[in-house]
Amino acid sequence: MKPVAIHKYYEDVWTDGWITHCEENSIPFEVINGYRTDVVPNLRKFSALFWNFNPWRYEDLLYARHILKTAEFMGLKVFPNENTAWHYDDKIAQKYILEAIGAPLAPTWVFYDRNEALGWLGRASFPLIGKLRRGAASHNVFLLESRSQAEAYCRKMFGRGIDPAPRLFSDMGVRMNKVKKLKSGKDVVKAFAKLAVKISSARHFSQVERGYALFQEFMPDNQHDVRIFVIGNKAFGFTRNMRKGDFRASGSGSFDYSRDRMPDETVRAAFEVSRKLGFQAMNYDFLRDQGGKHKLIEMSFGTFAKPTYDCPGYWDPRLKWHEGHHWPQAEIYKVVVEGGN
Ligand SMILES: Nc1ncnc2c1ncn2[C@@H]1O[C@H](COP(=O)(O)OP(=O)(O)O)[C@@H](O)[C@H]1O
Ligand SMILES: [Mg+2]
Repeated sequence: MKPVAIHKYYEDVWTDGWITHCEENSIPFEVINGYRTDVVPNLRKFSALFWNFNPWRYEDLLYARHILKTAEFMGLKVFPNENTAWHYDDKIAQKYILEAIGAPLAPTWVFYDRNEALGWLGRASFPLIGKLRRGAASHNVFLLESRSQAEAYCRKMFGRGIDPAPRLFSDMGVRMNKVKKLKSGKDVVKAFAKLAVKISSARHFSQVERGYALFQEFMPDNQHDVRIFVIGNKAFGFTRNMRKGDFRASGSGSFDYSRDRMPDETVRAAFEVSRKLGFQAMNYDFLRDQGGKHKLIEMSFGTFAKPTYDCPGYWDPRLKWHEGHHWPQAEIYKVVVEGGN
C-alpha cells in the first residue's frame, strides 16, 4: 500500500493523534504540508490524506477543501471528504442540509435582505438567538432579549458587520480556569503568548461577516448542552455545563459524562443524520427545547480529542452501550482507510 499523508501545518494535538496511530500500528505514513504549491504532484505517492481544520485559520476555511476535493478526485481516500467538510464552520449551510433531511434542527432563519429581516423581526417573539455562520467556543452566539436588540444586531450585520475572530481578552473566566491548571508562571506566560499569536493572526486574516442575519429559536432553561460524536458505527457523548451566569456552554471546558444527560433520542438522531448525509465523522450539539425535546443547534467534524477519549464508552447504531476508551483519530482512520470501525 502507498503511504498515508498526514497534513500538519501548525502545532496540533489532534493531528498528532493520527501520527501516533500510524506509528503504533506500523502504518507507512508521511507528514506533509498540504499548502505547498507542489501539493498535487506530491499527492500521487499517497493512498490517503488526513487533514484537521482549525476554525481560526483562514487557510483551512478557504483553501483546505479545494486541496481535499482534488485529492478525492485523484483517487485518494480523504478525511474529511466532501460530504463531511463542505458545511464546516458554516451554520447557514448546515441549516439548509439539515432541513432537507428533516433533522430535528432548532428552528433557524436566515435573511440576505435587511428589510426582509427587519420585517420578520416585527412578527418574531423574544428572546431570540442571533449567530454568525462562523465561530467556535460560543464566541459568535448572541442572546437577543428584545426587538430593539435584534434590530441593532440586524443593522450591524447589514452595515459594518462583525469580525468573527475572538478578542484577546474575551471569555476571560474560561481562560482563567485553564490557567489555574498550568503548573508554573512560565507556563502561563507561554500559554498567553501562544494565544496572542493565534488571535492576532485570526483577527488579521479573518473576513468580516456581513450581508446576512441568522437567527435561531432560543432554547431556555438548559444547564448544559449535549454533544454526540458519531464516527462510523460508534457514537461518543458528553455534556458541557453552561458558563456561570451565561446561557452558553460550548467552550466552557466544564465536561460531564453522565449518561442520563444524553437521552437516546440524541444518539438516534445523530446516527441518522450521519447515515443520511454520508458523514465519515460528525459532532452534533443539542439543546432541549421548551417542550423537552432535544434539538440540534449545529454540527462539525472537528473537535478536541481528549474529551472524546475520556468518554467511558460508546453507543453502537442499535444504541447498545460498550465500555472502553477510544481515540477518535484511530476510529476515523479505520472508517476512512479500512472501510469501517
Ligand atoms: N438556539 C439556542 N438557544 C439557546 N442557547 C443556544 C442556542 N444556540 C446556541 N446556544 C448556546 O451557545 C453555545 C454555542 O452555540 P453553537 O451554535 O454550538 O456555537 P459554537 O460554534 O460557538 O459552538 C451552545 O453550547 C449553547 O449553550
Ligand atoms: Mg457548538
